[in-house]
Amino acid sequence: MIVKQYIKDFEKLGFGMFVHFGIYSVLGKGEWAKKLLSISDEEYYKLCDEFRPAPDWAERLAAEAERAGCGYITLTARHHDGYSLYDTCGLNPLDAPHTCGRDLVREFVDACRRHGILPFFYHTLLDWHEESYRTDFKAYLKYLRKSVELLCTNYGKIGGLWFDGMWDRLDEDWEEDELYGCIRKHQPEAMIINNTGLEALGQLGHIELDSVTFERGNPQPLNMEGAPKYVASEMCQVFADHWGYAEQDLNFKSPADMIRDLVLCRRCGSNLLMNVGLRGDGTLREMDAAVYHLIGQWISINGEAVYEPRPCGIKVENKEDDFLLKKDNTYYLFCDHLPMAADPNVARVQEAEYRDIFRMDQKIKRITWLDNGDKVDFEQNNGKVTVKTVPYTYGRQLVVRVAKIETE
Ligand code: GLC
Repeated sequence: MIVKQYIKDFEKLGFGMFVHFGIYSVLGKGEWAKKLLSISDEEYYKLCDEFRPAPDWAERLAAEAERAGCGYITLTARHHDGYSLYDTCGLNPLDAPHTCGRDLVREFVDACRRHGILPFFYHTLLDWHEESYRTDFKAYLKYLRKSVELLCTNYGKIGGLWFDGMWDRLDEDWEEDELYGCIRKHQPEAMIINNTGLEALGQLGHIELDSVTFERGNPQPLNMEGAPKYVASEMCQVFADHWGYAEQDLNFKSPADMIRDLVLCRRCGSNLLMNVGLRGDGTLREMDAAVYHLIGQWISINGEAVYEPRPCGIKVENKEDDFLLKKDNTYYLFCDHLPMAADPNVARVQEAEYRDIFRMDQKIKRITWLDNGDKVDFEQNNGKVTVKTVPYTYGRQLVVRVAKIETE
């Protein structure tokens, strides 16, 4: 089996920010608005005149991502409407340099570098605007490859390319060898990802692809047995219902849900790519920023359990939502549903069994909570471990609590 170091490095990034940003952000009705609200070309592309991101949009975005503990950002360099945030160098005037006099991908990449964030580019495969997509598919593919080549040559070392939209024409020959070959030529260590969409979660594809995708939830551990190449996995998730900014989408998930999504991804060995849909001026919605802050807070406490530890196959026998990850001789026990210790007059005290039981052959030296450093009581007899997973001390409720298990 081929194992590439850059794929292992990608897994260690753990948590990325997905950013939907384009002229649809001005409209505030989601990135599919043109299609689903049947907006004519004439009307829709007028949005270009209003798309004027604030000068510091990228700086603020990268700072936000860094604060939240994201190792990478995946930005929609071109989405289905055909508008490019990057300089297409004359390939197509429907790009940011022509319509607002700026190369927004350059601004993005520069800001990422200032904040130690690895830039990734989402790139659409389907195209609602480019005529050749419908009339001369081979010519379209050339245009697509030239576009992607620009992203691979003009912005220094990038983290990877994230394609989306192949599902629109599954019967076509997308000439994937050429497309991915062009990336490999210029960016041999870039992750190449191609979203398999909602209908084919986690499906392996072309040999050059480096990660499978799980869109909107349900990540599964990958079974790599017999596979020709080791691949990563990534789940992209959205806070509300739309990826692109939709002003009237109030259907937000809770911060606790999002923390659990991150934890679930790590349990499956997946990265979480969590979306924000920027407003037309490039700012985050208050709610998006708030959830990012809370997840960042959780990561700042539990980070050592998030990035490097990997699934180890040990099953918590009495609690299905609890699990362990492992790095070298250290294990991390993730405990969900622990209440906060309180007085019955203050908060409802739940009756629960505060024990986690599993098997581990290595001798345990000590167990401590990551949140307060307190020692955790445990017993280990003939490999059977019972950990007393006590509630949080009053003043804290972190959704998922993590205990660090050091072994000999
Ligand atoms: C779907 C949507 C697209 C969105 C993507 C994010 O493919 O068509 O608009 O960008 O999901 O994963």
